[in-house]
Amino acid sequence: MLEDTSFAIHPDNDKQSNAEAFRDIGHVVDYKKNESHYTFICKHGHVIIQFFTPSIARIVMNPTKEPSLDESKTVVAKPELVHVEEIIGEEMTTLKTEQLTLEIKQAPFRVTVYDAKGTVLLDEGERGMGHKVSGEVIAHKKMNDSDHFYGFGEKSGFLDKRGEKYTMWNTDVYAPHNPETDPLYESIPYFMTLREGRAHGVFFDNTFRTVFDMKSAEDTYAFMAEGGQLDYYVMAGPSPKNVLTQYTHLTGRMPIPPKWALGYHQSRYSYESEAEVRALAENFVARDIPVDVIHLDIHYMNGYRVFTFDKEKFPNPKKMIADLRAMGIRIVPIVDPGVKKDSEYEAYQEGVRGDHFCKYIEGEIYFGDVWPGSSAFPDFTDEKVRKWWGEKHAFYTDLGIEGIWNDMNEPAVFNETKTMDVAVMHGNDGVPKTHRELHNVYGLLMGEATYEGMKEQLHGKRPFLLTRAGYAGVQRYASVWTGDNRSFWEHLQMSLPMCMNLGLSGVPFTGPDVGGFAHDTNAELLVRWMQVGAFTPYFRNHSAIGTHYQEPWQFGPDNEAIMKKYIQMRYEWMPQLYSWFYQASVTGLPVMRPLLMEFPNDVKTYNLNDQFMIGDNVVIAPILAPSVTDRAVYLPEGEWVDFYNGTVYCGNQTHLIHAELAELPIFVKKGTALMQSEWTSNADKKPQHVWMDIFAGTDDEKYVFTYYDDDGETFAYENGTYVKLEVEIVSEKNAVHVTILNQEGDFVPVYSTIGLRVHGLADDQKLFLNGKGARDKASISFVK
Ligand code: GLC
Repeated sequence: MLEDTSFAIHPDNDKQSNAEAFRDIGHVVDYKKNESHYTFICKHGHVIIQFFTPSIARIVMNPTKEPSLDESKTVVAKPELVHVEEIIGEEMTTLKTEQLTLEIKQAPFRVTVYDAKGTVLLDEGERGMGHKVSGEVIAHKKMNDSDHFYGFGEKSGFLDKRGEKYTMWNTDVYAPHNPETDPLYESIPYFMTLREGRAHGVFFDNTFRTVFDMKSAEDTYAFMAEGGQLDYYVMAGPSPKNVLTQYTHLTGRMPIPPKWALGYHQSRYSYESEAEVRALAENFVARDIPVDVIHLDIHYMNGYRVFTFDKEKFPNPKKMIADLRAMGIRIVPIVDPGVKKDSEYEAYQEGVRGDHFCKYIEGEIYFGDVWPGSSAFPDFTDEKVRKWWGEKHAFYTDLGIEGIWNDMNEPAVFNETKTMDVAVMHGNDGVPKTHRELHNVYGLLMGEATYEGMKEQLHGKRPFLLTRAGYAGVQRYASVWTGDNRSFWEHLQMSLPMCMNLGLSGVPFTGPDVGGFAHDTNAELLVRWMQVGAFTPYFRNHSAIGTHYQEPWQFGPDNEAIMKKYIQMRYEWMPQLYSWFYQASVTGLPVMRPLLMEFPNDVKTYNLNDQFMIGDNVVIAPILAPSVTDRAVYLPEGEWVDFYNGTVYCGNQTHLIHAELAELPIFVKKGTALMQSEWTSNADKKPQHVWMDIFAGTDDEKYVFTYYDDDGETFAYENGTYVKLEVEIVSEKNAVHVTILNQEGDFVPVYSTIGLRVHGLADDQKLFLNGKGARDKASISFVK
């Protein structure tokens, strides 16, 4: 392609110098207060200000007419009735809620946003909002020296995005993911600014190609779109956690995933036959290596036709799936959007006859080349098409399948632009719009169609969906993997800030292809990556056609033993992980977190790329380079306990930690607790024992956490079939008090009691459970 050659730096490519300038919105000429919002009519545009909650304000600018307030493809919240104090002055109007103050200057129109303390969050400065005749819209904001930026969905590079410029345009990128490779598969036009320990967020809800520029000017950042309205939300924070809860109030939260989806997934492009899949499953069982899912990549289909199986290579999928299920293993097949152009193929016939495919305005179906050759693409912007597509998944659920893997849904097309012709006109439920406008939501809407269809077919069981492409709100339907990485150490390193920023963008269920997709992995890289994978939210080992096989046993018994230990640890940690996933479903907080989320006042955490937290009390500091067995680990405030041997480390310090190939450094905050269980077997993954491991403090540490469990696979929890404990742990010089503050739900788990184990209890320290004394062991019973 031309852009991959020196043509990319052709002098004529510098379009910047003669580009049309943005026209400022100008002075306010009229002002109207409506029931739920405030309208400012300006010389060159109209602006509406609306409050969703006292801490979320929406600002919408339409260059030519009264802004429309109901165009969002993803916001699920409705504006609440917010008490707003309105002060109209000569030069300025002030709109004030309990959490936010917006000062709107009249000449020219400029809006400044303050938090409850009166600290400036957004300041337009010299250049405010603007637009071009071509339809582009832009917002400028002042950038402070102390600003750090996070979020932006799936981006390569480091955690802190200050100094970067990003484009949102869902793109299939097989070429190596470098720090400068942008855009990738997902578009989440959202970010969080951390300024001197306090955070606020901005969600730019525009589905056109958007650009976020924190690079080109020293004291200003800007976000712009190729078209549409300048429609953005400000979230007041003030903590990073508050911002995430506010953002996911708008765009929705992930439902609790089925527990099996949190287990280990084994994939490859491709396991090509039933015999190969069965042998693979038998290998896992025989070696007692935990596995919950085997993925079927494109080879399972008949000529890459979705909703089919290759009858020769997979003669009896139903039996294969049932037999694997008896072994405790589920099958997740890939489903791409491209439907092969083949007039003898049912899905194609139905799509054409039902008018389900994307078309040009003139009525011709759009065809693009993907795996099956020339293909048509369902128009997921129409409700009736989503329904049709969802119903088609009965093909899979009838075979016993409960999870689907959506790929190539940017949509990817094998051509110069890598996607569908932007002139294609989507139906969009009767409000036709071009692909140029709706490209970025194609994957999200395919996700909606698939998730809702599967949910319908599974009659009360939770579906699992994995997706490559998406837009803000994708967490409502799917987990996200980071696409075609490579078996490079650099890609292992990069996967941490990538997943952490996805988590900060509202997507808690993420992970890279463990071991690396393209290129050949090697023993050391695979072992180190599997150690990390055991603690990233989504844990799937996947590799490309023609590369070295990377199942856990491919590099000899010693390496296998290490990988097996870590995959088993994943299951030992399941009660804890599941509790964090539960929390993500109610608060939007990610399971895997950058340290800055828990320690926003600690500048050392602001760009800490090679460590992460699980929940609020565990720091994981993996080895991320070859031949390395020592690394610096920064531990923030507090004291931290080595998970394996109990050594206590002081916080606010960097320690040199030794970790042989078999070791993954894990630190637990002193005074807190972890829920743990045991690995049982592939066939029966329900543990008989669950423990609360308490890491005794001595210094008045107080920790409150929620333990959550349910049947792990149905929606019965919606009707109270779960168990939820709110536990408080207070450590004192002579005692550790464990108190169940609250117990909720009527689910009785197999294990029926929770054993308490206290680590680091001093000789003169006593354990109290609900006020009653015990030595260092006790148990909580569920049976009433
Ligand atoms: C794409 C996916 C990859 C998959 C391959 C074949 O490259 O990103 O995960 O294995 O297509 O379906």
